[in-house]
Amino acid sequence: MWDKLVLCITGASGAVYGYRLLQVLTAMGFELDLVVSSSGWVVLKQELGLTKADLLKEFPTVHLVHEKDITSPIASGSRLVKYRGVVIAPCSMSTLAHIAQGTNQNLIHRVAEVALKERVPLLLLVREAPYSQVHLENMLKVARAGALVLPASPGFYHKPQSLQELVDFVVGKVLDSLRVEHQLYRRWKE
Ligand SMILES: Cc1cc2nc3c(=O)[nH]c(=O)nc-3n(C[C@H](O)[C@H](O)[C@H](O)COP(=O)(O)O)c2cc1C
Repeated sequence: MWDKLVLCITGASGAVYGYRLLQVLTAMGFELDLVVSSSGWVVLKQELGLTKADLLKEFPTVHLVHEKDITSPIASGSRLVKYRGVVIAPCSMSTLAHIAQGTNQNLIHRVAEVALKERVPLLLLVREAPYSQVHLENMLKVARAGALVLPASPGFYHKPQSLQELVDFVVGKVLDSLRVEHQLYRRWKE
């Protein structure tokens, strides 16, 4: 039951975080439902050169759900309560705003809304710079509603030597929030 996760990739910069989560979570044996927004596909192509066909080929066990398929089981609380959590990585300011307002334009917004009402852990790996007052207020709003807001900003105390180590620090923080054991970064004084 707790081996199921919903992973959503939206059109914020940092598609690599969603991609790395796909790699790590499938390797760990998690059952993944993946929803990518239309802008998410654009940024996956722009930043990583990846298409839908590439992802389907590399992750054959992942269940890809179309962002407009609001009939998907994960749009229903009765099904989502069986999931360990919902991760939106990266999370755009637009998706954040929809979640904060409770408006539904796609399945990602709906799944987030359901996660909040059912108290299923909801993690938003937000990315923008700088943040406007609107962004900050939306983050506060979703945090008060029960979401965990993680900034896509790596620490440096583990002395990263590569881009991969920076990415893995952030991905490791996502896994920490889900209480999933991992060795992606070296902990303080470990
Ligand atoms: C290359 C690229 C990078 C982007 N980076 C960000 C970003 O870091 N943060 C953000 O909030 N939006 C970013 N955007 C804008 C979003 O893609 C846009 O607001 C989109 O409507 C978000 O839709 P979605 O939330 O449904 O994916 C970026 C767009 C492109 C094309």
